[in-house]
Amino acid sequence: MPAMQRAAEVAARIYEGIPGSLLQKWRPAICPFDLLIAQVPPQSTVLDVGCGSGLFLGLLAAAGRIRSGLGFDSSAPAIARADCMRRRLPEPARLAFVHRDAAAAWPDGDFDVVCLIDVMHHVQPAQQRPLIETAIAKLRPGGTLVYKDMVRRPAWRAWMNRLHDLLLARQWIHYAPIDQVASWIRGAGLEIVHEPRCSMLWYGHEILVARATAPGAGRPPA
Ligand SMILES: C[S@@+](CC[C@H](N)C(=O)[O-])C[C@H]1O[C@@H](n2cnc3c(N)ncnc32)[C@H](O)[C@@H]1O
Repeated sequence: MPAMQRAAEVAARIYEGIPGSLLQKWRPAICPFDLLIAQVPPQSTVLDVGCGSGLFLGLLAAAGRIRSGLGFDSSAPAIARADCMRRRLPEPARLAFVHRDAAAAWPDGDFDVVCLIDVMHHVQPAQQRPLIETAIAKLRPGGTLVYKDMVRRPAWRAWMNRLHDLLLARQWIHYAPIDQVASWIRGAGLEIVHEPRCSMLWYGHEILVARATAPGAGRPPA
């Protein structure tokens, strides 16, 4: 069975009957979760920033791929759905979800993997660099940053996604140029090890996978 169909089936199962979760069931058809899951080393601890309704952590946990996952999001209804989904899993205690804005204090601890999936374009431009730098500072030495956002080019794909967010999130989004994000990541001392791009329907995706391999990478200067 193709990976996308498998993710859709898992999503349909773990969100079954949870009010307001229709988008979670369809999201695997427009977001390359199989590609993203492959970037998470097995048995990692994962922080998912802007986790929405918890779909990525739910897919990782349902596949038995992670030791633990913590997601936070500024949307209270999304976190309520994530918590409902979590309780459906065979090992619910592996996941936790917190209602929190990224501008507030972040959850304690550091993580093997920190993910920012389709969050950056929802953040005001002045907050985009601090967002990625704070995410990087939550990585353990040797940890992995998984960043994904929607393409700015070609313009028609960027516009299709802009319309999506105008309709669903009622928000005028702000694309961060991928080269700019890559330079922020490198500036924090990480090495970009993988940068795939792909399209699903009219949505274009760009991904950066980076490792904090250098000593002190990601830590603010003392
Ligand atoms: C397109 S959704 C992606 C959700 C999830 N990452 C996924 O891929 O399924 C963007 C999410 O970012 C969240 N978000 C936007 N700004 C945020 C902020 N400042 N702090 C925390 N979450 C934020 C929104 O509430 C929304 O759930």
